[in-house]
Amino acid sequence: MTSRVVTVTLNPALDVTYRVKALRVGETVRVPEVRTRAGGKGVNVAAVVRQLGADSLVLALTTTATPDEFRAGLDELGLAHRLVPALASVRRTIAVVADDGATTMLQENGSPAGDRAEAAITAVLTDELRAGAGAVVISGSVPAALDPEVPARLARLCAAHGVPVIADVSGAALRAAASSGAVLMPNSDELAELVDDGRVEDLVAGGAAAVVATAGPDGAIAVTARGSWRARPAEVVEGNPTGAGDAAAAALALHLARSGGDVDWPAALADLVATSAAAVLRPVAGEIDRGARARWIPLTTVEETR
Ligand SMILES: Nc1ncnc2c1ncn2[C@@H]1O[C@H](COP(=O)(O)OP(=O)(O)OP(=O)(O)O)[C@@H](O)[C@H]1O
Ligand SMILES: [Mg+2]
Repeated sequence: MTSRVVTVTLNPALDVTYRVKALRVGETVRVPEVRTRAGGKGVNVAAVVRQLGADSLVLALTTTATPDEFRAGLDELGLAHRLVPALASVRRTIAVVADDGATTMLQENGSPAGDRAEAAITAVLTDELRAGAGAVVISGSVPAALDPEVPARLARLCAAHGVPVIADVSGAALRAAASSGAVLMPNSDELAELVDDGRVEDLVAGGAAAVVATAGPDGAIAVTARGSWRARPAEVVEGNPTGAGDAAAAALALHLARSGGDVDWPAALADLVATSAAAVLRPVAGEIDRGARARWIPLTTVEETR
């Protein structure tokens, strides 16, 4: 059995961080320091998987233009990748961080995907499923001109190959993925949009492999056909919650991969809550504090709720 985790990112990004003294609306601001990093949720997941000591592979759409800064960014992070050129450009997310710590995010939607994007990413994923994947994580938004049902179709493909799959998507893509056989990982807002009466059990009856609903500092719940559990973090962490959900997905993907889908849920939930809290400690999405994670796993409380 392989524990290699394959991540799928349909809407990649270049995460740009501007450090400024102060940001005042309507004024010209000097930017003495700029950092650019390959981003998108699947990239963060792959980076955390690697920090957890396992192999990861990034499958993503990228730009048809050259040079491809996104590809160069993945190389700089040392992440293995297979990319499908299908976008006029890779969108930027700009984080403007002021000296007092205040952060303003500007997020582009990205350019529409070309006609062949779905066929091409499906072919690459099929190839990797045949080569052997322990688990697949499909995360993030879907670019314009791509059907919001694409994540659900890719999830069904994984399920048909017997490979456990996590869908960390939102809105119409989450509604479509709900019956795909994927493990769903909505945060509180995404869950509220999906089930207004809060009946998470119905999602499992309706074709989700399981639902892991994350709730920021309150931790996470797992609802499965075999039972339900709640885990709370050992400590509420002050820090950068962006990418905490991606760290949670990375931790769960490894449990899925190592158990062939037959997860020890209380252990997996404790791990994902500790790993994601350890991500909040790090200022950059896609990184975890491994010492804190190791300390927190045994201190994370898990209770059965059904
Ligand atoms: N302040 C915090 N202290 C401790 N743990 C936290 C904190 N914030 C988040 N977490 C952990 O991270 C997990 C995921 O957080 P959250 O529900 O905010 O995900 P998210 O909104 O999907 O994040 P993102 O999409 O930015 O990666 C939570 O289940 C929890 O275990
Ligand atoms: Mg999330």
